[in-house]
Amino acid sequence: MNYQWYPGHMTKAKRMMQENIKLIDLIIELVDARVPFSSRNPDIDELGRNKSRIVLLNKSDLADPACNKEWIRYFEEQGAYVLEVNSKSGSGVRQVSSLVRAACKEKLERDKRKGIVNRPVRAIVVGIPNVGKSTCINSFAGKACTKTGNKPGVTKGKQWIRLQKDLELLDTPGILWPRFEDQKVGMHLAFFGSMNDEIIIMDELACDLLRLLAERYPRAVADRYEIEPEGSEAEILADIARSRKCYRNGGRLGLEQEAGIVVEGFRSGRLGRITLEQP
Ligand code: G4P
Repeated sequence: MNYQWYPGHMTKAKRMMQENIKLIDLIIELVDARVPFSSRNPDIDELGRNKSRIVLLNKSDLADPACNKEWIRYFEEQGAYVLEVNSKSGSGVRQVSSLVRAACKEKLERDKRKGIVNRPVRAIVVGIPNVGKSTCINSFAGKACTKTGNKPGVTKGKQWIRLQKDLELLDTPGILWPRFEDQKVGMHLAFFGSMNDEIIIMDELACDLLRLLAERYPRAVADRYEIEPEGSEAEILADIARSRKCYRNGGRLGLEQEAGIVVEGFRSGRLGRITLEQP
């Protein structure tokens, strides 16, 4: 199957990012903790040159805890400020503020030396589609935030959320594009539904997924569905459907629907906390 992300979408997203990035001091980059490499934008280092950077390992609740630690170490070694978070529950999100201060320390000191005081740090949340940007902004900003409205001239048409007296967040997240030319990346993103499902052939996706799980988490399917996976991927999918008692008119569901069971189980985290990539 050809896993695709359209170059046309990339061009539009890139233009938006270049505009937004001029306005900010700090980039809060979200990656999916289950596939930190595949969910990372290939051009962010170049786009974010000279800006402070925080990397948030989002959806860490769905990822393998040991791998989360490895990825934190990896990004820290790259010089980033890193945190694992669950934007949905809010876990870890509170700590972002202190990380912001640490990440912007040099900038704040530079401002102070130049006599610039009370100028808040401006930040943007960025990431590829579906990584959790909106959920993160909502969780981070909470109900206490105030929108600061348009600032004529400087930030025309932009809305800022005042988080603290010294921190403002652009209220619309920056959409980044994945490494769309890399098929393996496309496949990883498709597993998590970050690729348009309309272009996905579900049974091929499920077979790719079963193969990868057999390599990385050999017990995940067996434990969840109480089967011993044997034979071809199609046979395993049929076994899974049987174990879930999914039949139509007493017969098989059909490959595509059987495939949907395992993909959905994986996406929802019911197959356990799984990370598909290691640093
Ligand atoms: P985006 O702006 O980057 O496109 O992503 P968005 O916030 O819309 O989040 C995409 C999906 O990921 C949402 O699920 C959201 O709830 C979920 N999500 C975001 N962060 C986390 C996290 O840290 N942990 C978990 N487990 N899920 C997270 P959805 O199914 O599309 O919506 P909903 O049914 O949850 O409302």
